[in-house]
Amino acid sequence: MKGIVLAGGNGTRLYPLTRLLSKQMLPVYDKPMIHYPISTLMQAGIREILLISTPHHIGSFKTLLGDGSSFGVHLEYAVQPKPEGLAQALIIGEDFICGEHSALILGDNLFYGQELPAKLQRAAALKSGAVIFGVPVSDPQRYGIIEIDPAGHVRTIEEKPAAPRSRIAVPGLYFYDGQAAEIAKQVRPSARGELEITSVNRAYLERGLLHAEMLDKDCACFDMGTFDSLLAAGQFVRERQIETGIRVGDPAETAIQNGWLEENAEGT
Ligand code: TTP
Repeated sequence: MKGIVLAGGNGTRLYPLTRLLSKQMLPVYDKPMIHYPISTLMQAGIREILLISTPHHIGSFKTLLGDGSSFGVHLEYAVQPKPEGLAQALIIGEDFICGEHSALILGDNLFYGQELPAKLQRAAALKSGAVIFGVPVSDPQRYGIIEIDPAGHVRTIEEKPAAPRSRIAVPGLYFYDGQAAEIAKQVRPSARGELEITSVNRAYLERGLLHAEMLDKDCACFDMGTFDSLLAAGQFVRERQIETGIRVGDPAETAIQNGWLEENAEGT
């Protein structure tokens, strides 16, 4: 399975911090934000990763992360000329994915949980279709929202619904079979002019191939795109690290746990 981290966007909600720096370079406690989603893909067992960012910021990611060898992974880079939607990542990444299964994670999403690596590895082992996750939120109008029937099947999926049918949001981590790029290419821009990842997920739903798994109460997930969520994520990381003595979202540590690097290897 291949992994894509989408780390472009404008980051307007974090102005003026993001006038100069990419959002995904901002510090989240003791690491740059981008370390967290890379580490999440690695927890899923993914070693081949494509990082997509803006023409302006791609160079700083290359400087920070290099070829990925310090994390025991292989990193490639691609540019998204304009932020035209999350689904565009699958089109930009088509040659990289090369018809294999893929996982897409947003560069400003942090996932944490004791059971999370096992859950991610199960999702990464999907045979066909797509696996998304569900988390309860208090402000469903801001997210992609799924409605799940009593048997746990996804009934509907809507992007930022004015009248939400549930409070279960889809966080920015998606696992797909080899059809994802083809499906993304069929997606037409939404009213706000973006290629919506919800449209890709709905195409899987219509084929009866969309699986959703709830993230349990012991799983935390943050999108770090606002001042409050950025601060909350930093505090969360600090508290977990003090409590457990284990670094959160550290790709070098994940590489050691995965047996991809020696204990004494130099991380970044
Ligand atoms: P958003 O938070 O929707 O957008 P943004 O990061 O530009 O922030 P703001 O709304 O404050 O202007 O994006 C979620 C993530 O996806 C974030 O990591 C940026 C990334 N993204 C892209 O890389 N390309 C895109 O086309 C879009 C829509 C988002």
